[in-house]
Amino acid sequence: MKLSTTLLKWYSKHARAMPWRDHPDPYAVWVSEIMLQQTRVETVIPYFKKWMKLFPDIPSLASASERDVLNAWEGLGYYSRARNFHKAAKIVASNFSGQLPRDLTELRTLPGIGRYTVGAIASIAFKMDEPTLDGNLRRVFSRLYDVKEFADSPAGEKILWELAAQNLPKGKAGDYNQALMDLGATICLPKNPRCLLCPLMKMCRARENGTQNLRPILKPKKRVPQYVYAAAVIVERGRVLLSQRPAGGLLGGMWEFPNARVDQNPAAELKKALRSASRIQVKRGEALGIVSHAYSHFKVVVHAFRCESVSIPKEKNLIWVKLSELEDYPMGKVDRQIARKIK
Ligand code: ADE
Repeated sequence: MKLSTTLLKWYSKHARAMPWRDHPDPYAVWVSEIMLQQTRVETVIPYFKKWMKLFPDIPSLASASERDVLNAWEGLGYYSRARNFHKAAKIVASNFSGQLPRDLTELRTLPGIGRYTVGAIASIAFKMDEPTLDGNLRRVFSRLYDVKEFADSPAGEKILWELAAQNLPKGKAGDYNQALMDLGATICLPKNPRCLLCPLMKMCRARENGTQNLRPILKPKKRVPQYVYAAAVIVERGRVLLSQRPAGGLLGGMWEFPNARVDQNPAAELKKALRSASRIQVKRGEALGIVSHAYSHFKVVVHAFRCESVSIPKEKNLIWVKLSELEDYPMGKVDRQIARKIK
């Protein structure tokens, strides 16, 4: 039997239930595909449901404030996805009458929509015969064909996209692509793949050659650096000082407790580091705790301290926020954890 026939038969029994599957609106598929980049299905489901209530269609997303959008995204990470999605919704609302374009070249011009997302939206939402390739599909095809190129090199990418296109069943690309995603997430696992349960076991070259644990071949990862920060929690008359991050870059537009990078000793260096980073002058108080977080390319360890203000510059990005309204300000995971330590 053909690979796609076997796979689709398996999928008809084992497809995982997801609220965006068989959703009639292409927008729902778009929402899910942006959220699912870098994030697992189980994590995404509650965010997706909440999002569809808050922003049920493209015009409602386009007219939402950036703060509401980032608030709804809070906890999913990789916040540039939310900002790009918001930008793209505005473009679709003004240039495409609020309808996601079916032209793949036009789709690709939208912020946050790359080759993977185009393939996913085209095949799942528009039922077009288009391949796609995400991390799961890369792994599945690397094993099925025992691909010996680096999967994350241009040569490997080219081979894998060709394999994804090669086997596409006409009229069923959406199910086919999603079946491969499910297979990758539940059977063809990164470590210890469950080959005995795999519907494609007999067609898998890596399984035949005993190389399934060695595929995909990836370039060696660089060690990620770790940085230490000291953060100041300055509470006065029921309000706390927050700082908004610059629009571009990591956690762009989100709020945080004023902080600065330090070398060795956060308690000793806080005052000077904060003054030179942001001209905020404080007197340091008790330690509130230490919060660590791994971003994609580095790790941070943030030491939070209660502080008293000595001098706060008048800057647009600095505001005093009522403690009772802290939840309304979108924050990354680190700062939300610090916020929870304030009594
Ligand atoms: N990952 C990204 N999109 C997906 C989908 N539609 N089904 C399962 N996993 C996914």
